[in-house]
Amino acid sequence: MAEVKIVRSAAEAGVIVAERIAAQIVDNPALVLGVATGSTPETTYRSLAELVRERSLDMRGVRAFALDEYVGLSPEHAQSYAAVVDREVTRPLGLQPGNVHVPDGMAADDASSQMYEQAIENAGGIDLQLLGIGSNGHIGFNEPGSAFDSRTRVTALIESTRCDNARFFDSIDQVPTHAVTQGIGTILEAKSVVLLAFGAPKAAAIAAALEGPVTEDLPASILQRHPHALVVVDQAAASELTR
Ligand code: PGA
Repeated sequence: MAEVKIVRSAAEAGVIVAERIAAQIVDNPALVLGVATGSTPETTYRSLAELVRERSLDMRGVRAFALDEYVGLSPEHAQSYAAVVDREVTRPLGLQPGNVHVPDGMAADDASSQMYEQAIENAGGIDLQLLGIGSNGHIGFNEPGSAFDSRTRVTALIESTRCDNARFFDSIDQVPTHAVTQGIGTILEAKSVVLLAFGAPKAAAIAAALEGPVTEDLPASILQRHPHALVVVDQAAASELTR
């Protein structure tokens, strides 16, 4: 069962999770972080960047692997996850660019997906995977129906996900239709996972993920079976929890 923390704000969640990551970096300066994009992890990255500065954490050995990337966006596109990770993670945290990996949205085939899996394995696996959750319960871009043993692959985005993400683009037509994502099986191999969710639009997905049946129809529900899962939610996202 996942440990659940209900906090007052996304800012408070960011501080809690950043402290946890910072402590792990002190213990293991070669920590392998799994990084999510989207709005949800922004406060965590900001708080962690502050801790890195305040405590002069040595980030030179820290590695990072992104969860996913849009197909067809080059790293130069401002909304590619390569660009987002560079802006929000690599630079503010002072990571070595060569230690930061994002799936190749321009290659996006079986061979490059397998290479990504291999790179994670070569790094010794992900120590701490940060996750957001889609309003439909997706993690990464594993949409409902994704197999629990799925690996990194190209997958189609469903319409509601494209609508949710249209705010990052000028119009929905510009939101890619496909993405490369770590699979659920890949995510489950992370030694620990931290799922964050804020706001009422996430409440139904959080309740289903934590208190509903474990089903491929609600990908995040598999985290009930992860041995080291922490879920940090604000009161709005927790509002449909009953236990
Ligand atoms: P968000 O996306 O952080 O932008 O809400 C989360 C997700 O879709 O996984």
